[in-house]
Parts: sequence; structure tokens; C-alpha cells
Amino acid sequence: MLLMACRQASFFIVLFFISQLSRDDASQQCGAGGDLYSFYQMMLKGHTYKSFKTATGTPECREVKVTTWLCSLQLICELNNRTKEARPEDFVTNKDRYYMSKGPKRVPLGSIRELPAESCNEIKASEGGKAVSGNNYWIDSTRSGNSILAGCDMKTEGLYKTWFLAFWYRHSCKEIRNTSSHLKDGEYWIALKKNGSLLKVYCDMTTDGGGWLLVSNVVVGNPSSLQYSFESSYREISNCHNKSLLLTIDAMKELRRHLSFTQLRFHCSKNKGRTLHLTTAANSSGEAVVQYFSGQTDANPKACGSFVRMKDDNSKLAVDCNQWWNKVWGYSYFGKNRYRIVAYVPGKYHWRIFKGSSRWECDDFHINGAEYFDLSTGDFWRVFVR
Ligand SMILES: *[C@@H]1O[C@H](CO)[C@@H](O)[C@H](O)[C@H]1NC(C)=O
Ligand SMILES: *[C@@H]1O[C@H](CO)[C@@H](O)[C@H](O)[C@H]1NC(C)=O
Ligand SMILES: *[C@@H]1O[C@H](CO)[C@@H](O)[C@H](O)[C@H]1NC(C)=O
Ligand SMILES: *[C@@H]1O[C@H](CO)[C@@H](O)[C@H](O)[C@H]1NC(C)=O
Ligand SMILES: *[C@@H]1O[C@H](CO)[C@@H](O)[C@H](O)[C@H]1NC(C)=O
Repeated sequence: MLLMACRQASFFIVLFFISQLSRDDASQQCGAGGDLYSFYQMMLKGHTYKSFKTATGTPECREVKVTTWLCSLQLICELNNRTKEARPEDFVTNKDRYYMSKGPKRVPLGSIRELPAESCNEIKASEGGKAVSGNNYWIDSTRSGNSILAGCDMKTEGLYKTWFLAFWYRHSCKEIRNTSSHLKDGEYWIALKKNGSLLKVYCDMTTDGGGWLLVSNVVVGNPSSLQYSFESSYREISNCHNKSLLLTIDAMKELRRHLSFTQLRFHCSKNKGRTLHLTTAANSSGEAVVQYFSGQTDANPKACGSFVRMKDDNSKLAVDCNQWWNKVWGYSYFGKNRYRIVAYVPGKYHWRIFKGSSRWECDDFHINGAEYFDLSTGDFWRVFVR
């Protein structure tokens, strides 16, 4: 049983503690000292999926891996599902352990269904030159528990873009949400409908039923050096998660060609201020807002009846749609970069983020006399589609 378990599921290894032994003793007894592939007093933290006690000469650990396994003490064998090459940041010192790699029976990452990789890149890091382009690997990039068998291109570290993959992958956060009920917010891969190419995106799977794709994201890092970029390629949403960016209207237009969405969600919040959190209504009034912010029309959509307030919305802006500028969304002057001014009650409550200016407003207005909340780290302006 154990043997079977080791052979099939385990990847990597290893192991064990030797607290009573001096280094020399341990090296000698465990045969670890002169072994090219063992690392004294090191371990891989957080990737042990199985551990068991083993005694002298018992075959199970040896089978899986190392031939040098002759300690007379009772040992604990810990099996890891990642290598130190794949997760160098988790390779840490620990005085009771040896880390051993490259046992003869070690299973390469992604080679069996039980041991899927998160990406081709990870396989390349883990297996080095043994990772072969075109080989099929088990990949579970969404950590959903549903691995797929896919070809990796080790040069670009990407998946081969095949019809087969496009078939297996979901086309949107909304579709991914439908596949399982306990999904977490985080990064997922989606296949674009038009040509099947894959895109890593950030999905919010928890707010208002989930299925939201993050398309613009500005987060305050250091309040004294505010910045973000305008991106004219929708593929940049792959970096939304950790980079402050706003898509241009042309990028949104292109995105909507590849991905059908029917709702937008606007969410901004200041730690020292309020939260504005609106989704567009699921009807023709909401659709007009989607069209405006996807560049399909230049007509500013009517505010009233076009949105729904989320539970945590405590904005004053959302209270009275009749006070919005011209009773519509957006603004006319700034044309293409529509996410800088999404909506505002003139002189009072604005969604406005201007690069190189001090006017980063979320339901406030940065002019003397008006209500304004100072910026702090973590304040954000986000746009999602669903
Ligand atoms: C690897 O093992 C760790 C620790 O048990 C676990 O949290 C993680 O989900 C496992 N990863 C995979 C891909 O099985
Ligand atoms: C999600 O599931 C619901 C209910 O089964 C269905 O009506 C809807 O079309 C599905 N949405 C997607 C994007 O697959
Ligand atoms: C698919 O579209 C993307 C972006 O529009 C483009 O970069 C990529 O080359 C296209 N792939 C194919 C196979 O046409
Ligand atoms: C953001 O994520 C991308 C891809 O995951 C990575 O290449 C990049 O280094 C990250 N940038 C930062 C600032 O963390
Ligand atoms: C659209 O939905 C909103 C919010 O539910 C509602 O207030 C509005 O009257 C609806 N408009 C139309 C045209 O149905």
C-alpha cells in the first residue's frame, strides 16, 4: 500500500529528522554526506502532502527515492509535491531535516494526474532540461482539482494554443464560476472565444454571486507617488492583479469582441473615506452603460435606473442619480479614457483619478471647502465585467 502510494502519488521527497545524531554520524548513517542530491539541514516548507515513519532498511522511502537510507534510528519520511527548483522561496533551513532530491523513482511534476502543475513555467523550473516541449502534462492552473492534459511550449513557457485546450478551458470568470461552488478570488486562465488564445486573469468569485473579471485596477501604494498606466491592449488585464492600470476604451471594445459580458461593476474605496460600489442593472438601461464604457457608443448613458448598489456601498454619489452631471454617466471632454471619470455630482462626489494630479477622488472632491478624504495605502478604484 505504502509502496504503491509512494510510487504513484509522490513526487518528491523528503525527509527526515536526525536530531540525536551529529552531522557526521548522520551523514554517514544516512549516506547523505557524500550524496550529490541531499541537502543537509534544509527542507521545503509547506509542500508536504504525506509523511510516515519508517525503520531501517524499510523499502518504501528507498523505493521512491534515495538509495541511501540506512539510518538505524526511526526516521520520518516526508513526501513533497514540489521541488526546491519549483519553489526556491520555500527552501529553508531546518536543523532536523535533510532535503533529498532526484531519487530514481521521483515522478516529474505534471506527469501524473495526482500531481498537476500550476503552469508550464513551473514544470520548466522544476524539471529543467527534462521538461520537453510538446510533451503532455497535467495542468491545474485554477487549482480547481480538475486537471487537464495539455502540451507545454517550454520556450515561451506557455501552453500550446490548441483547439483542444480552448475546448477544455472556460471562456470567462462567469463560466468558471458555474463549474464549482466554492471557488476563491484569484487568478484563473480563460480561453478567448475568437481565436482560442489563453489569458491569465483575475476573477472575483465571491462578490454578488461571483464570476467577475477584473479589467481595470488602480491601487494606492505610496500616497506620495501615485501612478498607473493606460493600456491599449486588453491582454494587459493579465497584469491587473499586481499592477495599477486602466484599460482604454479601445481595449475594452476589443475585449468585448472576444468575451461576452453584460454587466460592469465599479468599486472604489478610501480607508479614510467611503465606498462606492455599483453594478449596472441587468436590463437595457444597464446595457447602455456597458456600451458606453466599452466604446460602442459615445452617448453618455442615463444614470437613473441603470445601476444597483452593492451591500457595502455607502456613497453619497449613488443616493441621487438626478444630481449626476447632466443626469448621465461619464463626462464628455476626456473622450477615450473613460475610467478616469466614471460618474460625479459636480463639486461634491466624484470618481476621478488623474495621473500627475492630486485629484484622486472616490465619492469626494479635492477642492477647499468640499468634503475630501486623504489617500492612504490600499485605497483603490476597480472595474469588473461579468
Ligand atoms: C501540495 O501539498 C500542499 C501541502 O499539503 C497542499 O497545500 C497543496 O495543495 C499541494 N499541491 C498540489 C498541487 O497538490
Ligand atoms: C451558468 O449556469 C446557469 C444556470 O445553470 C445558466 O443559466 C447560465 O447560462 C450559465 N452561465 C454560463 C456563463 O455558463
Ligand atoms: C489571438 O488574438 C490575440 C489578441 O488579439 C493575438 O495576440 C494572437 O496572436 C491571436 N492568436 C491567433 C492564433 O490568432
Ligand atoms: C506581476 O505578475 C506578473 C505575472 O504573474 C509577474 O511577471 C510580475 O513580475 C509581477 N509584478 C510584480 C510587481 O509583482
Ligand atoms: C433596470 O433595472 C433597474 C434596477 O433594478 C431598475 O431600477 C430600472 O427601472 C430598470 N429599467 C428598465 C428599463 O427596465
